[in-house]
Amino acid sequence: MTYTELGLVNTNEMFRDAIARNYAVPAFNFYNMETLQSILDAARITHSPVILAVSESALKYMGTDMLTGMIRGANISPDYKIALHLDHGTSFDACAHAIEIGFSSVMIDASKLPFDENAELSRRVAQHAHKYNVSVEAELGVLAGIEDENTQSDFSSYTNPADVEKFVNATGIDSLAIAIGTSHGAYKRKKEDEELRFDILADVATRLPGFPLVLHGASNIPQKLITTINEFGGQLSGARGIDEIQLRRATKMNICKINVDSDLRLGFTAAARKSLSENPENFNPREFLSVARQEMTKICIDEIRNIMGSEDKI
Ligand code: G3H
Ligand code: 13P
Ligand code: ZN
Repeated sequence: MTYTELGLVNTNEMFRDAIARNYAVPAFNFYNMETLQSILDAARITHSPVILAVSESALKYMGTDMLTGMIRGANISPDYKIALHLDHGTSFDACAHAIEIGFSSVMIDASKLPFDENAELSRRVAQHAHKYNVSVEAELGVLAGIEDENTQSDFSSYTNPADVEKFVNATGIDSLAIAIGTSHGAYKRKKEDEELRFDILADVATRLPGFPLVLHGASNIPQKLITTINEFGGQLSGARGIDEIQLRRATKMNICKINVDSDLRLGFTAAARKSLSENPENFNPREFLSVARQEMTKICIDEIRNIMGSEDKI
């Protein structure tokens, strides 16, 4: 199955336009029908390009046939500029498998390996993926937080700007994820006013003019969702994300893909908890799944408008 048969596009043209017009394409993670529908609804409503991100564990959760069946069933038109992207691929084989089943973009995340090993694996993946016109993201620097069940990391190390040109030239990748202080999950910040390392981002952008950069672990963690979750029985006190203003600033500095997973998880959970708690007699899952889906669509639309700047860009 090739991705064009599924109505998908790779990320190359998307990123060229995002760099030229100073916005970021959102990469929202999905793992079931409701998350997929809410992202696609938001893309259609806002006319925004969107990257559908699937982690290895999400792929395992859905199963290959169910995933491709859902994508086919979504009737995606190439006019909608939708990419299907493997998030945090951990091996050559994982990336090759994703390409085989119809992904239009893959990330090889060898960021915890020494520079030379990371570069060599990323180069091999890029060489393979480019035969199929699939775009490739790799990463330099390590984000803190749980990235995936296969790649748990408790420590972080910022990207060293002095490494980036050598890495991009050695690998032939199409975009580069960098570590400038974001982290995965809902507990990103100890204090309200912690700043991302814009000095590192500026240095990288100067060394790689016009080259697409990617921000992982960039959920905003809306406090109203945390309040709702805690009000209806959850325990997420202290959860804090990346400030909207800082994310918008990053989109003006060659960050052209911003990854968001936790915000949709929070939206889903907040809506489901509230609905179940307020309707104790309900035992029809479609009721709380519907409100959860609406809440996630709303979050995607808000972020497309207020963070990514990608509305009406297709
Ligand atoms: O960055 C990683 C994503 O949040 C994926 O997480 O492996 O639990 O689906 P997951
Ligand atoms: P968040 O945990 O901040 O949503 O990050 C998601 C991500 O980076 C997916 O690759
Ligand atoms: Zn990530």
